[in-house]
Amino acid sequence: MSTHTVRQFPESFVWGTSTAAYQIEGAVAEGGRSPSIWDTFAHTPGKVHQGDTGDRACEHYQRFREDVALMSELGVRAYRFSVSWPRVQPAGAGPAVQRGLDFYRALVDELLEAGIEPYLTLYHWDLPQELEDAGGWPARNTAYRFAEYARLVADALGDRVTHWTTLNEPWCSAFLGYGSGVHAPGRTDPAAALRAAHHLNLGHGLAARALSDTLPSGAQLMVSLNPAVVRPRSDSAADRDAARRIDALATRVFTGPILRGAYDDDLLADTASVTDWSCVHDGDLALIQHPLDALGINYYTPSLVSAASGSPDAPAERNDGHGNSAHSPWPGADGVAFHQSPGPRTEMGWTVDPTGLTELLLRFHREAPGVPLYITENGAAYEDKPDAEGQVHDPERIAYLRGHLGAVHRALTEGADVRGYFLWSLLDNFEWAYGYSRRFGAYHVDFDTQRRTPKSSARWYGRVAASGQVPE
Ligand code: NOJ
Repeated sequence: MSTHTVRQFPESFVWGTSTAAYQIEGAVAEGGRSPSIWDTFAHTPGKVHQGDTGDRACEHYQRFREDVALMSELGVRAYRFSVSWPRVQPAGAGPAVQRGLDFYRALVDELLEAGIEPYLTLYHWDLPQELEDAGGWPARNTAYRFAEYARLVADALGDRVTHWTTLNEPWCSAFLGYGSGVHAPGRTDPAAALRAAHHLNLGHGLAARALSDTLPSGAQLMVSLNPAVVRPRSDSAADRDAARRIDALATRVFTGPILRGAYDDDLLADTASVTDWSCVHDGDLALIQHPLDALGINYYTPSLVSAASGSPDAPAERNDGHGNSAHSPWPGADGVAFHQSPGPRTEMGWTVDPTGLTELLLRFHREAPGVPLYITENGAAYEDKPDAEGQVHDPERIAYLRGHLGAVHRALTEGADVRGYFLWSLLDNFEWAYGYSRRFGAYHVDFDTQRRTPKSSARWYGRVAASGQVPE
């Protein structure tokens, strides 16, 4: 007797795919766009794998209609994308450039026409270079500039976009951008990284207020975080303390102010030798704790940590999954070692562990009561190559997705209010410091010809989206 079990998702569950401007658009000098920190960084020798840049990427700027047609073919009903700040407001201050806004208006109209709901993210890491030159996120003024930009975009697109996200993964902007330096702008200053984290929080709060003032009622305001699932290597007090420190620096540095209006005392104490947090001004925390209509969670893999071995000569294990740098992205956590979690790994070296996703969803169900949750990113990189017939078979990605959707279903059955899931990514694209060497797409992209080919996982995911059912 064969048993055939499926996990049924609610009818209203939102199925989507996700991208980001610099990773797919190309056309970096079109329509009045100015350089962002990622243009500068990618063009700096040695920063990105094989000198890859986003100059062309997936040529989505020219091919967006074709890409919307791919989504229709896939059968997903939602699309999460980001607006490039330097395309809309090249200097990071002053009036908007109409041609920049026109591009996003045309994209949104194409989506709406196809019956695909746009989920717009205002900041997916491409700060206008001029703002970096003026101090970047470690400078308080950048938060005010971000709110002004948010208002410009809301004025232009608020009549047709309902779902608004302020920031994507501010942890990466702050700690990979200003701490370890593996992301743009590539600075390696722990105190600056913590100031950047606070100013990203402040920028979120100010932008949230600007959006609430500008958008029609019924608009949905959210932020997408990449909270860490941190597991201690043993049950010892020292290892558990290492996990606590990383949880503070990875997750609570954002969820503290955003959800609770405070930086936790242990975070302030752990980082006291790096900063006195005088960047936090009176009134900031109240602004940051702006009510959210939903919380976006990006999840890929858990982290396994222990207290460092003690011997000052022993090389610290630095496998935190965020690239190689002599500089730590974890200010004040020198005593923490990272280890490879057991189990199969993706091409990023990230361990496949869907249980972490259930844990996160249940955690935020508790910590953000009444706030609906979306998985705004989840997916995997594998070495996908077209076969002799030009087909791309990616059974590992299907297994990854099946496992993680099972984990989402589990959180739903345990009561978490999860409203949707966005696969990262629609297309193979520019994977930041890894350039084009890591493929996360449902569609394979041949970067010489720009040909898009659906992988088997695209067809699998399309069936899931159409039926709301995930086979076990
Ligand atoms: C998170 C980021 O938001 C996205 O830009 C990136 O490509 C994926 N993770 C995969 O690393």
